[in-house]
Amino acid sequence: MRSTTAAWHEHRIAASIAPLLPGFAVEAVPEIDSTNTELMRRARAGRTEPVLLVAERQTAGRGRLGRPWQSAQRQEEQASLTFSLGLPLAPADWSGLSLAVGVSVAESLDPTGTHKVGLKWPNDLWVNDRKLVGILIETALPHAAGPGAARYLVIGIGINIGEREAEGMRTPPAWLRQWRPDAAAPEVLRELAEPLVRSVLAFEAQGFAQFAERFAARDVLRGREVTLSDGTEGVCEGVAWSGELQVRTSLGLQTITSDEVSVRPRGMAF
Ligand code: BTN
Repeated sequence: MRSTTAAWHEHRIAASIAPLLPGFAVEAVPEIDSTNTELMRRARAGRTEPVLLVAERQTAGRGRLGRPWQSAQRQEEQASLTFSLGLPLAPADWSGLSLAVGVSVAESLDPTGTHKVGLKWPNDLWVNDRKLVGILIETALPHAAGPGAARYLVIGIGINIGEREAEGMRTPPAWLRQWRPDAAAPEVLRELAEPLVRSVLAFEAQGFAQFAERFAARDVLRGREVTLSDGTEGVCEGVAWSGELQVRTSLGLQTITSDEVSVRPRGMAF
């Protein structure tokens, strides 16, 4: 098998997370169809161990709502960081998980908010209305699972590290090297992996409410006129304590729960 181009320091990352998740492993591969697809395949085959899978190249990366996810073209420079975290999880309430994940990644990439890394409901990271990070969350239910059993959660994250073309993208891209010229994908992964696992475990224990104010502090839609993919228009009033988007429309306050609905600032194409 081909080896990876970059040094990912898998053992170092795994050692920092194993005290939180016993048996945790980190795998780095040069190429795969999609890190999410692979972890979902493993879960369906009964492999539900906690793992982080990072790929230097995805040939069939997937985004939300069935869209493809294209990495930046300059693979030799590791211009994108693409990985998935898989683990069994059994929170009392799943609502707001994707928002909590967004909060964790935004705080790792821009701890003080200096670089204006914001959160676009439900879980994109934007900088000045340009997309820096996409997140795809999926779950699988193990075969023999009873009521209240843990699901296998797969959190897929794609981060633009280096410059990329806007062509073919719904939202023009932002990239990390715009303010961190030396940013490298392995280093970024080391910075965000452990806080991400901590956030997911905190979510499992206590739900989304503990993240709500931190989401609000970076909410890029709050106070703006927005359009929903079903054509509804209104003004965004932010996110509820349980993670739903609140939009004031001519019919009153609408609470948007479905991940199947897209929302855009008014005037931005879908
Ligand atoms: C979106 O913006 O719609 C979500 C994009 C998620 C992309 C990441 S890259 C790593 C993981 N593997 C995938 O196939 N998708 C996610």
